[in-house]
Amino acid sequence: MPSTSTRPRVVVSVVTTADGRVAPSRAERLLDDDANRRWRAVWPPDTADLLARRAEAVDRHRPTLVLEGSGTFVADDDGPCELPATSVPAEELRTDFLPHRTPRWFAVVDGRGRVPWTHKGDAETSLLVVTCRSTPLPYLAHLRREAIPYLVAGDDRVDLAAALTAFRDRLGVECVVSEAGGGLNGALLRADLVDELHVVTVPALVGGLGTPSVVDGPPLAPGATPVRLRLVTAEVGEHGTIRTHHEVDRS
Ligand SMILES: NC(=O)c1ccc[n+]([C@@H]2O[C@H](COP(=O)([O-])OP(=O)(O)OC[C@H]3O[C@@H](n4cnc5c(N)ncnc54)[C@H](OP(=O)(O)O)[C@@H]3O)[C@@H](O)[C@H]2O)c1
Repeated sequence: MPSTSTRPRVVVSVVTTADGRVAPSRAERLLDDDANRRWRAVWPPDTADLLARRAEAVDRHRPTLVLEGSGTFVADDDGPCELPATSVPAEELRTDFLPHRTPRWFAVVDGRGRVPWTHKGDAETSLLVVTCRSTPLPYLAHLRREAIPYLVAGDDRVDLAAALTAFRDRLGVECVVSEAGGGLNGALLRADLVDELHVVTVPALVGGLGTPSVVDGPPLAPGATPVRLRLVTAEVGEHGTIRTHHEVDRS
């Protein structure tokens, strides 16, 4: 049975429609004002209360790191940021860069160096980019120039288990909340790295093959069994929004 003794607890937290969709379409991101407005237009008045209770439930684990994927910030077909070449030695760049400490982290998996950061955090929370050895060197050099902390975990792409271990060993993180889309949550699930799932389900449907869902990524291997969950809490708001809290059942 996988243990959380060498890694932080991983809690996935999402808002979804009744068909498990987490965005209006594959082509849109909720950071876009118009997509966000249409997404929230179907949230009934009870959603805010259920979100607040979900936050209380998640906060009981005292998470100090929120995890996001690059798909929250850039489109599927966006390439690496265009940056000047660097003369800094590769092995120096491929070393964790932690120029400061902070009480909380906002960590983004960006192994391809695609997100052009404009906001680096505030006094309480710092941006942390999770990269790997194949991340373009000009991007790593750029992060250093901008004093944006980064960790290097994995070779061809970010090794999520290694990243979680680094969160714990390098930053003292005991609980991670993934607020990502289905791509990153799917990769965490397939690597057996998810411990809890907190879902707020609004009474609406999106549909559409390929629309981002709670858990995307590679399909279950033929012959494999779905991941079993144990219900901890379920509550229904007066306007039909539902809050559920499950734990992954590894018994
Ligand atoms: N409703 C909600 O609560 C909610 C929350 C968040 C996002 N969203 C929406 O969901 C959509 C984005 O979802 P998405 O699925 O496109 O993006 P995503 O969840 O960000 O998935 C892509 C991320 O997963 C990483 N990844 C994928 N497979 C991996 C693997 N095997 N190993 C390591 N890392 C892996 C990618 O890394 P690389 O970058 O290194 O390739 C990338 O960071 C957007 O529309 C966003 O607005 C909704």
